[in-house]
Amino acid sequence: MIDETGHLRGLGAGRVALAELHSTLGSTNERARELARAGCPAWTVVRALMQTGGRGRSGREWSSPKGGLYLSVVLRPKFSEVTLLPLAAGLAVREALSGFGVDARLKWPNDVLIGSRKIAGLLAEGTSSARGFEWVVLGVGVNIRTPDASVAEVATSLADQGTGPVPRADAVAARMIGALVGWYDRLEQNGSRDIVTAWSAASFDWSGQLVEGLVGNEVVRGLGRGIDECGALLLEQPDGSVRRLLSGDVRRVRTREGEGDPCY
Ligand code: BTN
Repeated sequence: MIDETGHLRGLGAGRVALAELHSTLGSTNERARELARAGCPAWTVVRALMQTGGRGRSGREWSSPKGGLYLSVVLRPKFSEVTLLPLAAGLAVREALSGFGVDARLKWPNDVLIGSRKIAGLLAEGTSSARGFEWVVLGVGVNIRTPDASVAEVATSLADQGTGPVPRADAVAARMIGALVGWYDRLEQNGSRDIVTAWSAASFDWSGQLVEGLVGNEVVRGLGRGIDECGALLLEQPDGSVRRLLSGDVRRVRTREGEGDPCY
């Protein structure tokens, strides 16, 4: 996909983007944001073999040793359904993993899990103006090899899960970007419908289950009612009203000892 001039081709619709591959970077998201601010074309991709300052959601660190996939894509969406882009990226990662025999599920807002362990995570960052979003950076981290001992309890990898030879990071990247182009086009052409339907089918079904979310410092609880057309998580409150979460960390709460699946 990346030619000898460092351009990424094969993205369809005449898209030709810049691609950067670094042996080490602080954070591919930081570099992609720099490029976005400097006016790089949409679909510019920054990848690093390892990161020294990998960033996760909510200011957390993302362990980024050699052997994982760390990439960020710059997008310049002209449509209004921008809040669905991280969900589209989750679907793209899931599709890429499934190409290597791994069946992952999505957890709102954008975790990719096998059982209760994380195999991939997404960090979306953007800048908007009165005219809408100028750019969005989608950062994707996929554990390809067994992750650091420090995260072994909560993380898994393609090497741990796959049945065949462990894929190369660039092969996972190519599948992921190909799938992301497909979801991006569907979002542009059909609006939220396809993504919301596909994401709902690919995620843990928490409908009617008690869900707890941490939004900033506030703990929010309610019965899961899926996501809306913006990708917000819907939690039904005891008085019947519905609380929309636009970001935050959530988990399903076990209501009775020994009941149901493990909590995520
Ligand atoms: C999370 O689940 O908390 C999100 C993790 C996102 C990690 C990726 S790795 C590539 C990109 N660069 C970063 O610094 N973070 C994202």
